[in-house]
Amino acid sequence: MIQIQTGQTGHLIDTELTRGEMEALFERASIFRRSPAHRGGYEGRLAANLFFEPSTRTRLSFEVAERKLGMEVLCLDEGRSSSVKGESFYDTLRTLSAVGVDVAVIRHSGGGLLAEMVKRSPGIALVNAGEGEGGHPTQALLDLYTLYQHFGALSGLLVAIVGDLRHSRVARSNLCALRAFGAQPVLSGPESMRDPALEQEAPYLPLDEALRQADAVMLLRIQLERHQEELFTSPADYHRQFGLTSERLERMPAHGVILHPGPVNRGVEIDGQLVEHPRSKIFDQVENGVWIRMAVLERAIEGGL
Ligand code: CP
Repeated sequence: MIQIQTGQTGHLIDTELTRGEMEALFERASIFRRSPAHRGGYEGRLAANLFFEPSTRTRLSFEVAERKLGMEVLCLDEGRSSSVKGESFYDTLRTLSAVGVDVAVIRHSGGGLLAEMVKRSPGIALVNAGEGEGGHPTQALLDLYTLYQHFGALSGLLVAIVGDLRHSRVARSNLCALRAFGAQPVLSGPESMRDPALEQEAPYLPLDEALRQADAVMLLRIQLERHQEELFTSPADYHRQFGLTSERLERMPAHGVILHPGPVNRGVEIDGQLVEHPRSKIFDQVENGVWIRMAVLERAIEGGL
């Protein structure tokens, strides 16, 4: 796990936050949610969004959050930036700092790059918007905030994290945060996608056993772009064995809810008709991404809450 000093800087590299720090972010997110027309507070402050991997939800919700806070938003065109001419990532960040950027929101292929950049003090706050297979802290925060909103508390909740565990930054960040709140994460999915490191943090259970007890199921997208070998036979076979179907939803406790970080492969991780099921929180997660990211940006600018 990445270790960073928290409470002293506004960087957000992973969910190595205390429960109190996360609760403070939830409180700010709730204030923003209750006044959705909220505008302003950070006029003249600059945010730069650097997305070196594809994104829809994270990219757009950060941009909406930045605009709602009144920030000026710069979106780097990565394909036309000087990184293609060989500029180092550190020099790109120092350049952003020199032109007055306050906070950089970064999606990157990973390898611990952001933690290394924090150590080198680039002069701006860094926010991880999804780093390879490593971490996706704002996704975990919005996932937990969605559960907190629905259940009123997180302690004791059994959350079944199901799917491509081996390649999932979402699973990694969620495990850390769920444990900080005293929730009970359990893992499930194909044998070929299990991750021994994650199983140090939470037990692996057969799917039906995990679902039977789950207050929430968190489905993970198959990260095909990160697979080095064939890990499943076909999307239809994956769905038959590990997808959330109406029958499997029936086996969950009646109060159990569905989460998925998106993008969703309808008919693979989940039956397409369940995406908008009354027990699905998938689009609540997307909406909550805006409020959580406003809180994270505020923390970034203020140097911690
Ligand atoms: N959940 C998530 O990170 O989605 P995007 O890749 O669309 O940002």
